[in-house]
Amino acid sequence: MRIILGIQEAHDASAALMVDGEIVAAAQEERFSGLKGDYGYPRQSIEFCLKQADLGASQIDEVVLATNLWNPVLTKIKRNANFKVSDWVAEQHKYWKPVLLENRQVSYYDLFKDRPDFHYDDTYPFDRLLSGYMDKEGMRQAREIRRTTVSMLLGIPLERVKTIMHEDCHTFYAYFGSPMRGRVLALTSEGIGDYSNGTVSEFSEEGRHELAHTRENHLGHIYQYITLLLGMKPNEHEYKVMGLAPYANKKELDKSYQVFARIQKVEGLNIVYDEKPPDLYFHFRDKLEGHRFDGIAGAVQKFVEVMLSEWITACVKATGLNRICFVGGVAQNIKACKRIAELDIVEDLYVCPAAGDTSVSIGACYYAMWKYLHAHRLSCEAIRPLDKIYLGPEFSDREVEAFLKRENVAAKFKTIPGVTSEDIARRLADGQILGRCAGRMEFGLRALGNRSILADPRRPEAVRKINAAIKFRDFWMPFTPSILAERTRDYIMNPKNLLSPFMTMAFDSTKLAQRDLIAALHPADLTVRPQILQEEQNPEYYAIIKAFERLTGVGGVLNTSFNLHGHPIVLGPKEALYTFENSELDALVLSNYIISR
Ligand SMILES: [Fe+2]
Repeated sequence: MRIILGIQEAHDASAALMVDGEIVAAAQEERFSGLKGDYGYPRQSIEFCLKQADLGASQIDEVVLATNLWNPVLTKIKRNANFKVSDWVAEQHKYWKPVLLENRQVSYYDLFKDRPDFHYDDTYPFDRLLSGYMDKEGMRQAREIRRTTVSMLLGIPLERVKTIMHEDCHTFYAYFGSPMRGRVLALTSEGIGDYSNGTVSEFSEEGRHELAHTRENHLGHIYQYITLLLGMKPNEHEYKVMGLAPYANKKELDKSYQVFARIQKVEGLNIVYDEKPPDLYFHFRDKLEGHRFDGIAGAVQKFVEVMLSEWITACVKATGLNRICFVGGVAQNIKACKRIAELDIVEDLYVCPAAGDTSVSIGACYYAMWKYLHAHRLSCEAIRPLDKIYLGPEFSDREVEAFLKRENVAAKFKTIPGVTSEDIARRLADGQILGRCAGRMEFGLRALGNRSILADPRRPEAVRKINAAIKFRDFWMPFTPSILAERTRDYIMNPKNLLSPFMTMAFDSTKLAQRDLIAALHPADLTVRPQILQEEQNPEYYAIIKAFERLTGVGGVLNTSFNLHGHPIVLGPKEALYTFENSELDALVLSNYIISR
């Protein structure tokens, strides 16, 4: 038996456990700590993974820390988790402006230490590294501190704790986590890794053969800065800019697109600078003065789609490989993935769930397992694709029952045990909006039925109700459906039969979808980002949708993540009940109980 624990200790911290080539548990720290995007050592996720597999830390063969070098200052201040929009703006003015534009050194830590509203990481003794500048040597020292600390915390010999190259974490996840085998093209595009922000590799069971990499692929950075310039949080709210993009009219879009058009170009197998500005934030701030918000959103989205299309076309032509796995933060852009999938030259595209950095814990496991098998000349067949993403904690009926008693829930709400999929389907068909917390929690950004808010997708009023009363969401953001796999052709234009079980790709919708699922399509362009659900992936959730189909003829439900705005997706009964009490959800499905007002 080979047991590997993978850890992402930087932003969107997470842990994953692989046993004999199969990921058996994985979770993000934010679900346990309640701090969205939590940053640093994921203690509770690690404890969960070991408990789930009924293993002790001493049984772990290898602990793999994703990324060789990262900046200890950012972990100390838990940057992405703590920062508000005003902090991101301050970072530009007080740090990047002097460093990039005025050639002055500034201590990053001094800018953000001692903030009463921040949570700080206190796991790693980084102290002597914090006041200096962000340099490679500091990060090398930080790597040894990380290894020593983790070794001590888990009680595991230091030689069993390793760090794995960031790019390997991404690409091994993209390939071995996917159902693809044989020779494929593996591409990364992201903010920054260990040595690149874009890579092109030929991948097979023999491993990764890198053909090109660059540090000049700034699609991720540019999208981040535009997100910030539009008043939203970078590294988190890029999807809102993407959601806004289809509302842009052509005139405004064309006007703003001129600002982006000549920043980057494809050269060989890389995206590189064309006309390089002195910086990206202040450059776009000045150039986009007087531009409309929707035009800017539409333009940056078009820019990313155009660049990726040109790049990938060049890569396919040069390598002859037309089956692609795509990973990294930019691969989370489901509209760009749609555009790539539509290229004639592309035969197959697979995007793993949570393609940004939260999944590098899983990728580190894949890499370590592959390396072990490869070194021992063993077959890679033992490495299992990630065909399910329900990898988190589950709460038993007995635990739920005890919780309901302890909280005296029956005194406040109507509480009925033994809820059936027919009961749930009937309520949905009657227009109720339900929270569902049952089975194992999903890993990643998407709720796929087990930590979801569900509604009737035929009802446009459901959108208004969820937006205003439940999720306090932004008015322009679309919802998404979960659909029965056998109804795919009825609802989705998918001529290449691409797999999309985890909501990683957008498609055009059919006329029938525009009737049956109208509340779960993008209102402006009627595209859809479906969870295509096979029964064996989640029989209980499948049964609910099937029962809904029997009642209504509609083979899908509206599905959005079960959380209040700004909070992580709910973990279990406690968080689910809190969300129910602080929203206007009609009812809460908690394992086999239904709780209503
Ligand atoms: Fe990354």
